[in-house]
Amino acid sequence: MSSNLHPDSKLTTNDSSTNNSGNLSMLEIIEQHTLSRRDFLKSSASTTASITAITVLGTAVVGSMADLAEAAPSPVAPISFNPVAPNLVPMTDAVTVPAGYTAKVLISWGDSITKEPHWDTVSAMDEATQLHCYGAHTDGMHYFPLPGLTGNRRGLLVSNSEYCDPPLVNNITPAADYAKTSITLDMVRAQQAAHGVNIVMVEKKRDQWSVNRNWPLNRRITGNTPCRISGPAAGHALMKTAADPGGKRVLGTLNNCAHGYTPWGTYLACEENWNGYFSNETGDVTGELDIDRKFNILKGQIRYGVVKGGFGYRWHEVDERFRADLHPNEPNRFGWVVEIDPTNPWSMPVKRTAMGRMKHEGAQVVIDRYNNVAFYMGDDERNEYIYKFVCAKKWNGNPQTTDPNMLDQGTLYVARFNADGSGEWLPLVWGQNGLTPENGFGSQAEVLIKTRQAADRLGATMMDRPEWGAAHPATGEIYMTLTNNSRRGNTPASSNKADGTSNAGSSNPPVDAANPRPDNDYGHIIRWRENNADVRASGFSWDIFAQCGDKASVKVLGGSYNSTGADGYKGNINGDDYGAPDGLWFDRDGRLWIQTDQQGDAKGDWINIGGNVMMCVDPATGETKRFLTSPPNCEVTGVVTTPDGRSMFVGIQHPGEDWRTSFTDHSTWPDNGNNGPTTFTGTTVAKPRSSVIVITKDDGGVIGT
Ligand code: FEO
Ligand code: CA
Ligand code: CA
Repeated sequence: MSSNLHPDSKLTTNDSSTNNSGNLSMLEIIEQHTLSRRDFLKSSASTTASITAITVLGTAVVGSMADLAEAAPSPVAPISFNPVAPNLVPMTDAVTVPAGYTAKVLISWGDSITKEPHWDTVSAMDEATQLHCYGAHTDGMHYFPLPGLTGNRRGLLVSNSEYCDPPLVNNITPAADYAKTSITLDMVRAQQAAHGVNIVMVEKKRDQWSVNRNWPLNRRITGNTPCRISGPAAGHALMKTAADPGGKRVLGTLNNCAHGYTPWGTYLACEENWNGYFSNETGDVTGELDIDRKFNILKGQIRYGVVKGGFGYRWHEVDERFRADLHPNEPNRFGWVVEIDPTNPWSMPVKRTAMGRMKHEGAQVVIDRYNNVAFYMGDDERNEYIYKFVCAKKWNGNPQTTDPNMLDQGTLYVARFNADGSGEWLPLVWGQNGLTPENGFGSQAEVLIKTRQAADRLGATMMDRPEWGAAHPATGEIYMTLTNNSRRGNTPASSNKADGTSNAGSSNPPVDAANPRPDNDYGHIIRWRENNADVRASGFSWDIFAQCGDKASVKVLGGSYNSTGADGYKGNINGDDYGAPDGLWFDRDGRLWIQTDQQGDAKGDWINIGGNVMMCVDPATGETKRFLTSPPNCEVTGVVTTPDGRSMFVGIQHPGEDWRTSFTDHSTWPDNGNNGPTTFTGTTVAKPRSSVIVITKDDGGVIGT
């Protein structure tokens, strides 16, 4: 059942921070650790050498886009490792990296991030334990290095825990029994605590990376952590609930998939498949007597996929705020980008409504040569859209004096890709282009709460499931994965309706230039360059970087599909084949790293490609090498390196997913020890666990060379 919880994954600032805890103040902690926030932020700019870009916080941020954005050059050092073989049946239950590299487990779901004990994986997880342990289903992550050269050996690893596998959390077998078990609030609280964000100090001692469990800034943010709602939609009538009549405070962040970071030193967690936790049990809006209002609320829920039963989590049975019929505005408080200050343990996460409400995959920042700041974002569902948010204020280069609410003011745009290789950014601005009261948009707040409907109205291009974006560190060119779309080219053809009444994911868009393959099983990667290398541009040029596929595929398009002229299932990859691209990241030297999320069982469409992978790609030549293969039935997601590029952190999510009878039907990773020791000390592995691994090169070199 677990893959149903991520239903599209396969085919089928200091804001409001008060410290009432009696704990050490941030200042006291800084004194104890002789680390100031200013130093912390400054360090990043100085420790990382990059191509022409300035760097902030250890990873490349485009600081000076070339005068004219152009296609990316080859990396500064050649990609010279020998690729690993695909993980075919019978699959290896391990992470495999090229000869000369080592991959070791760093932290796994249930490992304590404080001095409290680790979770005993034989037991059910409980809320109290989960609150001091690494969360479930690790996903996007960023590394915030400590000041100076020590930043290559010590830093904060901040990562998302996207979702959880309820029977695995609650210790229920067989998996099918979860649907009929008597569910309790304690069970749900444990699951909610398994979601959210992890902030963990990691350090390298005697060439071994480990978690520093004594670090006082280590913390969990969960599905119940109070968050502030900020920006134009804060306090709007559609954001108010019985528990929060002000519409500015919400409990928790959920389904944080990919992520982002800002030049001013914060982390962005992006809420993706949040709709799955809600259920509209009656198909009604209880207590709403105004027929028009009721219709609009239900229409809005359908457009975002809020339906009876959700994805089967059953939270709504014991935690009433997830009843979308009884609390119709609670779903409006999810689907946002959430800004988190990892250096301030008492800061409250902030939901930044100006960046739009969707199934956010991630938010990739680019700063242009004029110091304008933009974030590129995908809405990951079949036939949804690509967006950018441009901050109203320029980046002033100083985290200490940056307006802490940079993300509250700016303009959200949605992309239209034209057949001639040009594109347009269409502004989601109230009062313009039909975003007016007569079409259901009473204010900018309403445009943002109904981002999808506003984009429908503007005629944005329906895409094949936008996942991660990545920016080339020197040129500012943006790449984005489009993971698959089983509805592309289906008949009868249909488009998202301009009046915003389409059911989520229900359209059958015909092929178009930007999404050229019917039944897009394997996905593709698109890229674009802003006109005049200005992130405020209203136009861009684009092309398709790669069509993924299996060169040995013998599958032919059939049924209702028109195969004429299509590349079919073979793709056009220059090198090792892969499909279902999801995670995407440029390292400081301009290597493109691609991570995949397909079934991971090396069967069916994946018989030749094998399990999920991470590829290393030269963006100039397209040359693609398989760098990493993963255990059965997992997804590879989340990648970042230390500033020197010599230690790489990679996320392995849900190994052994889709088990039925026993938790370990498909995998015992990582506690099987195949990538080094874990916190598990028993003899029989109880459960597979999502984990972050750290990869080093045996000669101490840069990863990917
Ligand atoms: Fe959570 Fe779009 O992957
Ligand atoms: Ca995914
Ligand atoms: Ca993803």
